[in-house]
Amino acid sequence: MKLDINKIRQDFPILEQSINGKKLVYFDNAATTQKPTVVIEALKSYYEGYNANIHRGIHHLAEKATAAFEETRKTVRAFLNAKTTEEIIFTYGTTDSINLVANSYGQKFISEGDEILISTLEHHSNIVPWQMLCEGKGCILKIIPINDAGEIILEEYEKLLSPKTKLVSVVHVSNALGTINPIKTIIDKAHAFGAKVLVDGAQACSHIDIDVQALDADFYALSAHKLFGPTGLGVLYGKKELLETMPPYRGGGEMIKEVTFEKTTYADLPYKFEAGTPNIADVVAFKFALDYIQNLGKTNIAAHENELLAYATEKLGAIEGLTIIGTAKEKVSVISFILEGIHPQDIGIILDQQGIAVRTGHHCTQPLMQRLGIPGTARASFSVYNTFEEIDALVVGILKVKKLLS
Ligand code: ALA
Repeated sequence: MKLDINKIRQDFPILEQSINGKKLVYFDNAATTQKPTVVIEALKSYYEGYNANIHRGIHHLAEKATAAFEETRKTVRAFLNAKTTEEIIFTYGTTDSINLVANSYGQKFISEGDEILISTLEHHSNIVPWQMLCEGKGCILKIIPINDAGEIILEEYEKLLSPKTKLVSVVHVSNALGTINPIKTIIDKAHAFGAKVLVDGAQACSHIDIDVQALDADFYALSAHKLFGPTGLGVLYGKKELLETMPPYRGGGEMIKEVTFEKTTYADLPYKFEAGTPNIADVVAFKFALDYIQNLGKTNIAAHENELLAYATEKLGAIEGLTIIGTAKEKVSVISFILEGIHPQDIGIILDQQGIAVRTGHHCTQPLMQRLGIPGTARASFSVYNTFEEIDALVVGILKVKKLLS
């Protein structure tokens, strides 16, 4: 079904504003997506109508809040096609989800001399937690190389796999370049060596249908704010049989069965991993974001984004002195680019003066930028509410940058 983009735009009140006297063009969706009215309203009605702590009270508001919180867990289960809601853990974001696995699974099951594989494409959030684990445990971090287009080199990946590989932790979609990794192949090859696989799905989940069972992913991490949901909220999917063997990551209220000064027993899944009062309002509102996506249809969203990507690739590609960084065959709607002789930050500043929001810099992927031999890029990332006219405005903006700074 062809989506009515102008109608969709009306669901996002933030888009109706001018920046520096120019109509806002929001092309920083890989950093965070904007929120539709249904999500904003859900937050308001929660705070106005049934704010209470969950899983604790027996009063009406507490029961209502608990039911809404658990309803979101059911929606996330369906969104990822997990087997059961016990496999859905709420976290503070993808970074937190990865830290959970590193500190729980990693601490228990990864030992000195064991190997962890990540790729050159990783965000710092899928590098640093493993470096910290390796520092403490003496395990070894190995890096899967990429080609100049920004694609993982599968033959090199296969060469790195061995019985020493305990975990492969890779990004599904590169935040900096938009590359879609062949994640099913990566998972299958790791499993052939008995290694577990964590997928950083922060960027993929807004563009690609995720079926954790079909992928056979051991862990899948995502952030709500990339899915039109609130910030400060994420999900860790983990296979139940794995989560059951893992120790809690944080201790506190909610994650216990019984506490004495001598000994504590832990709650069942998923609560064992959800210590403390969670981000209740945001979890409740997240369901509305997922329902919003469901109503539009992931395939319809992807179709529009792919058209935007093709259009932008052609238009930007035609600008003299502009190089698109990241030319993988499989990409989502992210275009990173550099302009000859112009620093990416200057591109961002001049585009902002024209009301165009892009991200500039290393995109939390410094090792990737080092591999590509550049300090950073300007990145335009498109979402369902973006239009072809906005891409035309970006082209005009870039030409102005060139005129001013070349
Ligand atoms: N990881 C986010 C980005 O790529 C913040 O911009």
